[in-house]
Amino acid sequence: MATQTFIGPMIHCLRTGELIVHEKAQLNLRNGKIEHIDLDPDLNTLNRKNLKVLKNGQFIIPGFIDGHIHAVQMPNLGLGYDKCLLDWLESYTFPLEKKYSDLKFAEKVFDSVVKKTLKMGTTTACYFASLYGKASLILAEKAAEYGQRAFVGKVNMNSCQYEDYYESLETSLAETELFIENVQNIGNSLVEPIITPRFALSCDNVLMKHLGDLARKQNVRIQTHISENTEEIKAVENLFPEHSSYADVYDAAGLLSDKTVLAHGVYLTDDELSLISQRKSAVIHCPSSNTCLKSGLCDVQRLKAANVKVGLGTDVSGGNVPSMLDVMKAALQVSVHLSFSKVNYKPLDYKDVFYLATLGGAEALAVDHKVGNFELGKEFDALVIDLSAPGSILDNLQEYTLIEKLQRLIYSGDDRNIAEVYVAGQRVT
Ligand code: GUN
Ligand code: ZN
Repeated sequence: MATQTFIGPMIHCLRTGELIVHEKAQLNLRNGKIEHIDLDPDLNTLNRKNLKVLKNGQFIIPGFIDGHIHAVQMPNLGLGYDKCLLDWLESYTFPLEKKYSDLKFAEKVFDSVVKKTLKMGTTTACYFASLYGKASLILAEKAAEYGQRAFVGKVNMNSCQYEDYYESLETSLAETELFIENVQNIGNSLVEPIITPRFALSCDNVLMKHLGDLARKQNVRIQTHISENTEEIKAVENLFPEHSSYADVYDAAGLLSDKTVLAHGVYLTDDELSLISQRKSAVIHCPSSNTCLKSGLCDVQRLKAANVKVGLGTDVSGGNVPSMLDVMKAALQVSVHLSFSKVNYKPLDYKDVFYLATLGGAEALAVDHKVGNFELGKEFDALVIDLSAPGSILDNLQEYTLIEKLQRLIYSGDDRNIAEVYVAGQRVT
């Protein structure tokens, strides 16, 4: 790959939350990393090798980061929203997930998941895979094959919730260690294992403690669910009466680290937020899932005020679409709904959700030193956006500023507006 040059309009966020808009930027890459940015490029003096000049109307943004997606649940997309979380898991989700003992089925689904999510602009995905280690490895291999940046977790469950869909403590630990080794042996720096206790209702204290120890020993990230649904929270209180809160169950097991992502967090108390902030763990906001499963309205402004890192997740198939553009729209709508019942509440705007889907997600997953925006030295994970792409519902019949174009993409665009996708400088769709 060596050197590449991109020239065109570019938008990204700074850590301050400020939106940076360049009408014409030149990005020079070396081995997939941003080596130099020129804000006044001269086309005449350029070496034309590996040069890409964006077409009129196109612009570049950072790739989207899906902080929470269940690859195994993709075949259920759009199904089962007559139930709330715990019934939904038993009626729809566990029966589907059991099918991944069939590796051919796993291959077919995961091949499609990685291709589809890349097409929708997800350059980094944090995946829940399967209870079964071998099937989970196939997902990691697919991400490596198609060039997606991915964290892949073999799901841990040793408490019986649904028929025989669980494993023993010993199997859970042995399979997790083997899975970590196997993913690392793929030898692709884009794809890493992540330790994945499903949630407190599917893992006992002993398993969670071992997984916390393993994460520290191997310096591996952790993902789980927290405080998504009121019935779930009551069940956790009943099952773990010795703990002061849901977050305390995880903290006591050593699962809250600066590399932990907690999906949902709709009902976290102030004490829990303070603990999560202290531990530098992150919450992944999953607004479409929280609405489809009628879990609740998560207040991102409150999480941010508590100094908790926040990213966004599709949570397929709790969430109904694997597209981060859809999740941004859902986050905006949930925030407006919250504003109706709160005094002086400032709902999120399109700049806020753009941050959450890019740099916010990178901070949440502790990959902000590598991706999330176009700072020098970072890897070039990027989308070429074309608002007037064939089939798009948007048109280009008037002049728009770049910032207006971003706004239109977020409120009214879809994957048809994502013309090209790059991960570490490599074109992947
Ligand atoms: N909590 C435990 N498992 C799941 C799951 O698969 N999806 C969601 N949304 N929440 C969960
Ligand atoms: Zn989930």
